[in-house]
Amino acid sequence: MDSIRIAGGKRLTGTIPISGAKNATLPLMIASLLTEETLTLENVPALADVKLLGDILGNHGVDITVSGKRSGEDGRYGKRFGLCAKEIVDTTAPYELVSRMRASFWVLGPLIARMGEARVSMPGGCAIGTRPVDIHLKGLEALGAQISTDAGYVIANAPKGLTGTRILFPGISVGATHNVLMAAVLAKGETILENAAMEPEIGDLATCLNAMGARISGIGTHTLKIEGVKELHGATHSVLPDRIETGTYAMAVAMTGGDVELVGTRADLLQSAIDVMGEAGIEITPTNNGIRVARNGAGIKPVNVETRPFPGFPTDLQAQLMALMCRAEGVSTIRETIFENRFMHVQELVRLGADISLDGDTATIRGVETLTGAPVMATDLRASVSLVIAGLMAEGETIINRVYHLDRGFERIEEKLGRCGAVIERLSS
Ligand code: UD1
Repeated sequence: MDSIRIAGGKRLTGTIPISGAKNATLPLMIASLLTEETLTLENVPALADVKLLGDILGNHGVDITVSGKRSGEDGRYGKRFGLCAKEIVDTTAPYELVSRMRASFWVLGPLIARMGEARVSMPGGCAIGTRPVDIHLKGLEALGAQISTDAGYVIANAPKGLTGTRILFPGISVGATHNVLMAAVLAKGETILENAAMEPEIGDLATCLNAMGARISGIGTHTLKIEGVKELHGATHSVLPDRIETGTYAMAVAMTGGDVELVGTRADLLQSAIDVMGEAGIEITPTNNGIRVARNGAGIKPVNVETRPFPGFPTDLQAQLMALMCRAEGVSTIRETIFENRFMHVQELVRLGADISLDGDTATIRGVETLTGAPVMATDLRASVSLVIAGLMAEGETIINRVYHLDRGFERIEEKLGRCGAVIERLSS
C-alpha cells in the first residue's frame, strides 16, 4: 500500500492547476444512463473514484472512451470522456461495486426513469433510517416508483413510468437531490423539488441535463422545477472546477506562509471558505485565471466555524481548516453539523502535536507553535489531506499511510505540491 513522505517547513510558491470537481464528475457520468446517445464530458479529473464509477457504469452497459481510447486500455484517465449507454444491459448494481463508493447508489434514479426497473445495493453498512438513503427513496416513491428492499438491495419498479409531482425534501441531501433530479427529467409532467441541495455540483448536473434536452429551472436555488421530457439526447459538457481541491490547496498555502495562484478555479464556488480564511488573516484575491492565496509573514488568526450545506462552510473542508487552525495564534472552534463522527483526523493531528479536544459535534483547537512530523494513518478522503496540510508545516518527516484515500479525490497531489516547493514523495510498496 502506498504512503506519502513529507519533509515539512517549505513555503509553497508558484501555481497549482485545479482539476475538474470529483463531486460533479460522478453524477455527470451517471447521467449518461439517461440517453442512448453519447454524453461527452471534458475536464474530467484522473481519480480512483472516477475509474471505479467507470467500472460500475460499464456493468450496466455504458461504453466509455477516453481521448479516443476504449475503456480499460492504457490512458483510461484523461480529460475527455465519451459515455454511451446505447443499450442498458443490466439494471442491477451489485453490492461488490456499490459498497466501494456511496455515490454509485445514484444510478437508481436514472435506471428507473429510463428502464422502469432497478435493483441497486444499499451503500456499504447503511440501513434505511440510520445511515440513511431514506430521502432518496421517499423522493423516488413520490414520483411513482414502487420500492421494496430485499437482502440489502433496493428494488424499484415503475412499469408505467414516473409522474412528476411536488416533493419537499425533509432534509438537505446532495445525493438525494442528484438522484431524484435525474429521475424527474424523464417523468411525465412537472416536478418541483423543494429544499433541494444547492451545491454548485447540483447546478453543474442540471446545466448538463438541460444541454441533453431536459427542462430544469431554478438552478442555483433550493427549488428546482422540472418539466419532464420523453427522452434526452447527447451533449458535451465541461466539468466545473473542484471547489474542495481549491480550498484544500488554499489552506495548504496559508499553512506554509506561501504565495500561490490556483489556476482554473472560481472564487464564487467557495465564498464561505474564502470569508473564513479572510478572517484568519489569509489574503485571497481573484486573478484572471483563478485566485491567488498568500500569507506573507502575518500569523494565522483563530476562527469559529460551523459546517453547513452550500452556501455555508463545506463539511468537505472541515478537516483541512482544522489542520490550519492547529497553528493559529489562539483558540478556534469547529462544529460539524452535517455528518456525525467526521472527526477521525483529530487523533492523527494530535499525534503531530496538535492540541484539540472534542465535545460532541464541536472541536476546540488551541493553536501551537510547532507541529512535529510522525507516522500517521489516513482514515478517509478529507481526513487524509488534512494530514498532508499539517505535514507540510510539521518539523521533520511525516509519513502518511493508506494514501489510497487521497487518490480517490486528489489528482496528482504530490506532483502539484512538489512543483510549488513542497518536499513530498510517494513511497510505493
Ligand atoms: C455529498 C458529497 C460529500 C459531501 C456531502 C455533504 C458527493 C459524491 N459526495 O455526499 O463529499 O460531504 O454531500 O456536502 O458529492 N442523509 C439522510 N438521508 C438520506 C441522505 C442523506 O439523512 O437519504 C443525511 C446524511 O446522513 C448526512 C446529510 O444528510 O448527515 C448530508 O448527506 P448528503 O448531502 O446526502 O451527502 P452525500 O450526497 O452522501
